[in-house]
Parts: sequence; C-alpha cells; structure tokens
Amino acid sequence: MFGSARDPATGEGLQYHIHLKPGDVPRYVLLPGDPGRVPLIARTWERSRLVAEHRGFVTYVGTYKGVELAATSTGIGGPSTAIVLEELLRVGADTFIRVGTTGALQEHVKLGDLVISSAAVRLDGTSKVYVDPEYPAVASYDVLLALVEAAESLGVRYHVGITASSDSFYVGQGRPGFGGYLPERWRGVERRLAELGVLNFEMEASTIFVLASIYGARAGAVCAAIANRVTDEFDPGAGISDMVRVANEAVRILREWDELRRLRGRRHLSVGLVSGRL
Ligand code: URA
Repeated sequence: MFGSARDPATGEGLQYHIHLKPGDVPRYVLLPGDPGRVPLIARTWERSRLVAEHRGFVTYVGTYKGVELAATSTGIGGPSTAIVLEELLRVGADTFIRVGTTGALQEHVKLGDLVISSAAVRLDGTSKVYVDPEYPAVASYDVLLALVEAAESLGVRYHVGITASSDSFYVGQGRPGFGGYLPERWRGVERRLAELGVLNFEMEASTIFVLASIYGARAGAVCAAIANRVTDEFDPGAGISDMVRVANEAVRILREWDELRRLRGRRHLSVGLVSGRL
C-alpha cells in the first residue's frame, strides 16, 4: 500500500498536490492564481528559489527586506484554491495574501488601480461546501491594515471595500457564454453588485477568507484592476507591478507588527500599539 486515502501524501511525505512538506515555507505566503506569476513575484525579492512545481502549483521561497516569505499559485477559482490552502496550512503557513487580477465594477476604479478587499460576496461554490452561506467571508483586519499601510507608503492608487468572488469568469460574472448563453440569474449581475457598492469581481478571495477564518489563520487580498465593466475597458498588464510591491511591503509591515505584539505580549493589533501610545 502506498499511503492513506484519507490524508494523502507522496512517499516522501510531501503534500499530494503542492509537493511541500513542513518547514518548506515560512508563515507568510502570497497567493497568485497564475503559476507563471510566481517566479515574477520572486524576482522582486532579494533572494529566492524554486521549492516545488507540481500540477500547476508552483512555490518559491525567499526574503524581502530580510523577511522570509513564499509565493504559491492557487490556480483559478475556489476548488484548486481550497486545496492549496488546506495543504499550505498543513505545512505550517498561517498568513495569506491573495494577489491577482480583477474586474472593476465601479467607474471610479480605473484600470491599474488596486482593490484591497475588506470582505467578499460568496458567489463561489467551494466555500459553501465548508460552511453555510450565512457565514461571512472577511479579510483579517491586521492583514487588511498592512495592505492599506503598504499602499499608502508606496503612493499607489487603491480602493478598499467589498469584492465579489465567483467560480465563473464568463457567465457567473455576467459575461455572455459561448453563442451568447446567459441565464436570467446572471444577466446584469455586475450592475446589481455595483449598486450595492461592491467594488470588483475576482475568483478566489471568498474561498481564502472563509477557510482562513474557519482554521484560525489570517488572510487578505490585493488585486489589480485589469478590466472595468462599466467603461468596458481591458488591459491585462495594468497595475500588476504595483500589486506585487504592495503585497511584499504588507508582509514586511505585518512581520514588524507581529514582532511588536510578541514583544508586548499582546494578542491583538491596535492603533495604540503600533503608534507606541498604548
Ligand atoms: N478576473 C476576474 O475574475 N474578472 C475580471 O473581469 C478580470 C479578472
């Protein structure tokens, strides 16, 4: 017999899909969807190396401004993202930042702007396998704050608010499918969400937020607007480098705050703690 079907691993003790074992990655992990983006992110660090590449799940580890971090690709949508989260948690990671591309639903979110998600509308299927739809998909407030702090310090254009996450790029985001197929339920979904103040559509944040909350881990998301559904514009490279700079810097800030909490024996981050007032 090769191993356990309930808790699958390779003969070398690697997680079945991501091919990592405990100790391979530090606690902070960036999560792009696209495997091709992982080496591009790693190139922005001062040191980096490929640790694993299996079934489209690519992992690099390295250091950014002296802080150890990793990047692992999730693939597109909830199902593969949940697999990656499950397996990264098993090898010791506990803080996740989704980095990816997004379609803006508001006219004022310009191509190349960043959207930092405070929460996500759960239009995915995978998070509903884990928990009832009433359960919220929210970012961890310290990761969210670190992303905002990073965006401010780098002087990039960004927005903070609610994201919608769908497992479907075309029909589920109100784009006609092949031959114009678009069921009633999804016609105009982008306009209805926009009226409720939702900033953007992407495909993984809700799964990451829900799993992180259930498992006591931390998660945030920063995405580059490569499309605007109101103005009908599209530029697949817009904002990507700013997004990576913000995510890297957010990890550095989080590490500083985590150290401060440890030194002061504080469970929670607060403005007073960071400012030295409390
Ligand atoms: N990613 C999405 O999910 N939707 C878009 O419109 C652009 C990127």
